[in-house]
Amino acid sequence: MLEKFERYPLTFGVTPIEHLPRLTEACGGKVEIYAKREDCNSGLAMGGNKLRKLEYIIPDAIASGADTLVSIGGVQSNHTRMVAAAAAKIGMKCRLVQESWVPHHDAVYDRVGNILMTRLMGADSRLVEDGFDIGIRQSWEEAMQSVRDEGGVPYGIPAGGSVHKYGALGYVGFAEELRAQEAKLGFKFDYIVVCVVTGSTQAGMVVGFKADGRADRVIGIDASGTVQQTRDQVTDIARKTAALIGLGQEITDADVLINPDYAYPAYGVPSAETNAAIRLAAQSEAMITDPVYEGKSMQGMIDLIAKGFFPDGSRVLYAHLGGAPALNGYSSYYKDG
Ligand SMILES: Cc1ncc(COP(=O)(O)O)c(C=O)c1O
Repeated sequence: MLEKFERYPLTFGVTPIEHLPRLTEACGGKVEIYAKREDCNSGLAMGGNKLRKLEYIIPDAIASGADTLVSIGGVQSNHTRMVAAAAAKIGMKCRLVQESWVPHHDAVYDRVGNILMTRLMGADSRLVEDGFDIGIRQSWEEAMQSVRDEGGVPYGIPAGGSVHKYGALGYVGFAEELRAQEAKLGFKFDYIVVCVVTGSTQAGMVVGFKADGRADRVIGIDASGTVQQTRDQVTDIARKTAALIGLGQEITDADVLINPDYAYPAYGVPSAETNAAIRLAAQSEAMITDPVYEGKSMQGMIDLIAKGFFPDGSRVLYAHLGGAPALNGYSSYYKDG
């Protein structure tokens, strides 16, 4: 489905699928849990889901004649780390707006983890006070203008790489890749659990899995806390991406499943249950998840299993999208493990 689109390789290629027997056992043993390790997808600054998206965005940036990638996210944004990585890799400059998305005040929050690596890779990272919003922001437009004012040529990449014409193609590719892996494994996954915030990861999966009639087996776990905006954004991106690739099928509202129950108390703030899920994944499988994104989807998967949402015998694939560097900004939660 993606042959007509140019791809700039930033990842190692096919990501591994790992069976998680001890987590399966800890969750009652009736549902088999696997993970697809998008968090281990690249040698670029610890990788993660944004690189699949950027692989289809970067050719457009190069073709545009730009010399500076401009993007936006929170202080501990994984996305801006990955834009800084892509810029370093292709030899462009990078200007970032990092907003105060999270009501969390660890003393080293703006020094460690994602933002540390972002700065290390040479990005010009500018902290601003604006709060959380997954949409197009004024501060991002201003950052683009500031590059122009200095004689540069900016290429804008929106938050999460999501509201970009090519932002969801990478996760259409995820579905194609998984189908090939399933053919080798000799079975299909019944459900795919994925964290959702800015939307193009799930939107790409919805389009990719629509092709074999299982878009509604992608269970988005909202971590934004603004679920209606996220749902609208996923649906809109999925529809545009389906048209772009010539899917030949309409994406319906029923194709976009998003569970809002685990985003509390706020974007970027883990609940006691999120932290319990993070500890369980770490202690049963040495699989590290973060308090902003993957800890919440891990919590959601564990709770949905406990509630019997997945029929006995189901094979559930947890899409691990990365994000562990942010843990460094949350050390106070985990000083005793
Ligand atoms: C680690 C991690 N997981 C999940 C997400 C959510 O993906 P998306 O923004 O495409 O919905 C993000 C980015 O926002 C992320 O960095």
